[in-house]
Amino acid sequence: MTNFSVSTTERIDAVTGGTRLRRLRQADWSRRLVRETQLSTADLIWPIFVREGSGEKQPVASMPGVDRLTVEGCVEAAKRARDLAIPVIALFPYTDPGLRDETGSEALNPDNLVCRATRAMKAAVPEVGILCDVALDPYTSHGHDGVMRGERILNDESVELLCRQAVVQAEAGCDIIGPSDMMDGRVACIRHALDAAGCRDAMIMAYSAKYASAFYGPFRDAVGSGGMLKGDKRTYQMDYGNTDEALREAAQDLAEGADMIMVKPGLPYLDILARLAAEFGVPTFAYQTSGEYSMIMAAAENGWMDGEKAMVETLSAYKRAGASGILTYFSPMVAEMLRG
Ligand code: PBG
Repeated sequence: MTNFSVSTTERIDAVTGGTRLRRLRQADWSRRLVRETQLSTADLIWPIFVREGSGEKQPVASMPGVDRLTVEGCVEAAKRARDLAIPVIALFPYTDPGLRDETGSEALNPDNLVCRATRAMKAAVPEVGILCDVALDPYTSHGHDGVMRGERILNDESVELLCRQAVVQAEAGCDIIGPSDMMDGRVACIRHALDAAGCRDAMIMAYSAKYASAFYGPFRDAVGSGGMLKGDKRTYQMDYGNTDEALREAAQDLAEGADMIMVKPGLPYLDILARLAAEFGVPTFAYQTSGEYSMIMAAAENGWMDGEKAMVETLSAYKRAGASGILTYFSPMVAEMLRG
């Protein structure tokens, strides 16, 4: 029989043993005191887009607040990163459609946009790290990350080109090579090619668990590959039903010489991030993709959500899940906020 003579307080004390978890949440100072994870500016990698030419702002329609920058604009971004103490900028090109072909040959041009921007940024601001993506999609007429034969994306033929792309970028001064192509064996081949070219210090951040995802949509708009994409990327990017396979991908990339691994997209794949971070104990990064960024921005612009709060909350979620750092288009905004 229920004993109605026991007060609510007595009942709560009986089940909690006097532990009241709200006690530590009373004040901002106590919440800060016991916070388990901390977002810091040192966690940020800022992806930017570079384009040919000069002059006017060129906004990316599907990414509010993001512009395609000129080479000069990239140098300004690097200075901003330095001033805000953002450690790394990740660079992605919008290649003129006339320069795109079947094999993405512009990727191998030592004077392509990415290489020129890298050289300019490293010359002006050597203390900011530069990450360059290794994949052919900004350069191919079909929008795929590798070379095609018929409907197939060829693995080994693509890897040969990706190795040359990596060397060209490292020779331009790129500090971190980021293979995002998901071809098998590319990390080992790229490491070997970099070493053979005398680029032993170039780091590799492997996009290890990169899923075939709808969350890349705005990015493809930004680099101009979306409209051209023939079919989808499911024969090389991972199936989102899989977890164990992500562990195999990461283990393989590490065995092949990756210095750091990455999970992408981020928020819908926090389970994968948490598992990889716990399993390997190596620097593990998350990519808050263009689609994740634009969702937050769109909701904020409509007044449906507090954009700044959602930004910090999502970035904190990556940290909580075990990320060493996050690639995010919010980087300068977060850095300003953390500084202020
Ligand atoms: C290229 C690449 C993509 C992204 C990073 N590198 C797109 C894709 O694989 O189709 C997506 C980044 C983003 O959505 O922010 N391989």
